[in-house]
Amino acid sequence: MEKLVITGGKRLNGEVFISGAKNAAVAIIPAAIMAGGICVIDNLPNIEDVASLRSTLNKMGAGCEYADKHTLKIDSSGDINTCAVFEEVRKIRASYYLLGALLGRYKNAAVALPGGCNFGTRPIDLHLKGFRALGAKVEVSNGIVKLSAEKLIGTQIYMDQVSVGATINIMLASSMAEGTTIIENAAKEPHVVDTANFLNMMGANIKGAGTDIIRIRGVKELHGAEYTIIPDQIEAGTYMIAAAMAGGEVTVKNIIPKHMDSLTAKLAEMGVNIEKDDDSIKIISSGALNCANIKTMSYPGFPTDLQPQMTALLSACNGISVVTENVWDNRYQYVDELRQLGAKITVESRVALIEGVKKLKGAKVSATDLRAGAAMIVAGLSAEGVTEISNIKYIDRGYEEIEEKLSNLGADIIRVDED
Ligand code: UD1
Repeated sequence: MEKLVITGGKRLNGEVFISGAKNAAVAIIPAAIMAGGICVIDNLPNIEDVASLRSTLNKMGAGCEYADKHTLKIDSSGDINTCAVFEEVRKIRASYYLLGALLGRYKNAAVALPGGCNFGTRPIDLHLKGFRALGAKVEVSNGIVKLSAEKLIGTQIYMDQVSVGATINIMLASSMAEGTTIIENAAKEPHVVDTANFLNMMGANIKGAGTDIIRIRGVKELHGAEYTIIPDQIEAGTYMIAAAMAGGEVTVKNIIPKHMDSLTAKLAEMGVNIEKDDDSIKIISSGALNCANIKTMSYPGFPTDLQPQMTALLSACNGISVVTENVWDNRYQYVDELRQLGAKITVESRVALIEGVKKLKGAKVSATDLRAGAAMIVAGLSAEGVTEISNIKYIDRGYEEIEEKLSNLGADIIRVDED
């Protein structure tokens, strides 16, 4: 087991290059098994979730090899095993995209999903409802979801709630259905658009991705394609928030600035100077910022995946901030860890009330999940003294070379073995 040790208080200066989007990668890699040919996917982040999916695809019979550390070549021309019940599949939640991809191409799938609480607090009922609407039979038992259909028939699907995963999964399955599927109240996140673009490169006929109505005209076959994943909006946001909190001048490069609008508006309101360019954003911050209120929402609203990092920032701002988490019902587990660093936060259901302190103070904390881990890093960088973050396997799931990237900006952060 390893931990990250940060000596806080260093200002951040320089440039940081953002990797490809994790949440696009974990949808596009499973989508590639629909091709029945060779796909080359580039700008993949070099993270654990991608490695787990690569191993999964290999076990399913789709040859999946690294051409270089950011490029996978996936060959799905041979026989594919539609039963994916391996350990790697249970490790990442986004394995649910194998359901849509297998159902679309083979009309048959058995996929193990993360058990227990994931069906409770992170349900997939909307995914399953969509598959049923397309004509699939759905069975869930012992943590395995089984889907089968004689044929899939396009239909109109209204999403009761905006869901990224269900929108993408229905797009995958319906790409190879008979007739046209219309998804209403669809998610508009950048990775929904990226997955639709990739499917279209493979020969699918999807229109409207990025709006709340997506039309998918089913095609008989898809084919191999080459594709470059979009930059990671959440990784970019994490560095922007880190720079705002630690103070300094940081240019976040290789991004789509439009994807960052909800964050840049909020940081500007708090007193950060922001300079936008075609594919970069420069953050200029004194580190002494004003409080703000945040409400998380689906895109283009403020992303829930930046909520923990933002709460970390607000905990050392001037005044009282209110954060409202509208997407997940229990996304404040990390608050106890921030309190270890001296943050003054009270949580009542979906609302966190944050009384800004002058400085956080270094302490031993744990990464309770991926973005919570990012919040600990953001907090530790500006805290006085030493912060030790354990349980960093979560951070490695989603951030490529985070300590190298931060060290290059002047942070004092090292990875060491736990005693
Ligand atoms: C994706 C992201 C995740 C992010 C989330 C919200 C990936 C791999 N993960 O997760 O990092 O936090 O979007 O932006 O892209 N819901 C249901 N039934 C369902 C599906 C979802 O009730 O069948 C609810 C969820 O409980 C949640 C809300 O819908 O309250 C949004 O979830 P969703 O957009 O589906 O999240 P994911 O796609 O799982």
